[in-house]
Amino acid sequence: MKFLNYGSINIDLVFSVDHVVQPGETISSSALTKSAGGKGANQSAALAKAGAEVYHGGKIGSDGVFLVDLLNGYGVDTSFVRHYEGATGQALIQLDAQKQNAIVLFGGGNVEITKEEIDETLTHFSLGDMLVLQNEIVHTGYLIEQAKRKGMSVCLNTAPFDEKILALPLEKVDVLVLNEIEGAALAKTNTGSSFTQVLEALVSAYPHSEIVLTVGKGGVYYGYQEIRLYEPIYDIPVVDTTAAGDTFVGYFLTARSLGYGVQDSLRLSCKASGLAVSRSGAMQSIPLKSEVFD
Ligand code: RIB
Repeated sequence: MKFLNYGSINIDLVFSVDHVVQPGETISSSALTKSAGGKGANQSAALAKAGAEVYHGGKIGSDGVFLVDLLNGYGVDTSFVRHYEGATGQALIQLDAQKQNAIVLFGGGNVEITKEEIDETLTHFSLGDMLVLQNEIVHTGYLIEQAKRKGMSVCLNTAPFDEKILALPLEKVDVLVLNEIEGAALAKTNTGSSFTQVLEALVSAYPHSEIVLTVGKGGVYYGYQEIRLYEPIYDIPVVDTTAAGDTFVGYFLTARSLGYGVQDSLRLSCKASGLAVSRSGAMQSIPLKSEVFD
């Protein structure tokens, strides 16, 4: 199975702060690092590090060439990353003392992707291949529709969640990955609903989709038709939570494609994201398959 991950490529500027800045406040950071990120690029890196055959689709400016070099180094095929005159996407990340992050995005090349580029890229993929998506680029709905026409399966990670997600043809998505906030927003459950209630609502609303509901330290819930599974987190001291979800998605999909059952795939992807949060940075924090697979 080939994976086509059409997604964001960002330059991450990570400011280490005591707390996330409040309106009207000016604070100092104790460190600033520039690193490789973007939910899309991170997921491609995770897929490749896990051992999948992955192709990345996206767009960068000349300031983002180092990101493509990094992806190539991890084994990602970047033939479908287009170059343009403008800037590469950027993420301003505040990493607080509790190791939680807050992110401001600048779309750059991620929002300059065209339908023509998507059409050309999709000519290289067919039945049996999987399209992987997040919510940091344009034309996500178009990508889902066109991929399904070709018989590809589709995985969508709904992060970062906004109203655009609600307009997507989600009923056509085969694997839907959401965190607890995204899950509750999509399920439209009452405030205070349990994670299992959110999961049930999502399984009912999207009966053809595998639902993967990640709830931070609470682990991950899985539902598909009659199947319900749960996996706790891989408990390890947290250094930086950035790219935890991206790592989870890359390892979950790769493990499934390698023939692991769903429970084992959840266990391996929890281990991978646990290892990722025990290290700083986004793409660079994603573990290698030798660290994750038994
Ligand atoms: O999921 C983490 C990523 O979100 C960061 O790398 C940043 O670029 C934002 O897209």
